[in-house]
Amino acid sequence: MRKGLYPGSFDPITNGHLDVLQRAAKLFDELIVAVALDNQKASIFSVEERVALLEETVKLHQLENVRVVGFKGLLVEYAMQHQVTAVVRGLRAVSDFEFEFQMALMNRKLHPEVETIFLTPKEELTYISSRIVKEIARLGGEIEGFVPDNVALALRAKLNVPKK
Ligand code: PNS
Repeated sequence: MRKGLYPGSFDPITNGHLDVLQRAAKLFDELIVAVALDNQKASIFSVEERVALLEETVKLHQLENVRVVGFKGLLVEYAMQHQVTAVVRGLRAVSDFEFEFQMALMNRKLHPEVETIFLTPKEELTYISSRIVKEIARLGGEIEGFVPDNVALALRAKLNVPKK
């Protein structure tokens, strides 16, 4: 069985993430979307909230072979423990490349068996990032079209910013 692992902060999931997730789901028998607990970024949603938003999104899009989990510790350890065929990362632009390349090579150094593959979202989604969406929402801008509808609702509620 081919098992994919799509890790990230997903704070929150964007339509760019969703596009990559849908592409990855077609490539594997099972795709695990893994929300990281241990990364350097300060998150506005808790891991439980991010997992719940992803689960809702996965259900809405009827992605039946996708499972959402939170994970602690090193990604490669998780991948090894769950017999993952490949780790999937989204690559939006050249600016993503340096960090992604470093991470893929470091993960390979830690565990040579763990393969990383990169998928690109639709080009019209490449400028979207969780960070920018949060900033727009915080300042009262329109976020519909950048994140799934359930996420837009949750983000406005979290930031206490009503829709204009
Ligand atoms: O969505 P992000 O923030 O770009 O995802 C980064 C993530 C969560 C995939 C990365 O920080 C990670 O793998 N964290 C788990 C801890 C780990 O294994 N760190 C070493 C990476 S080389």
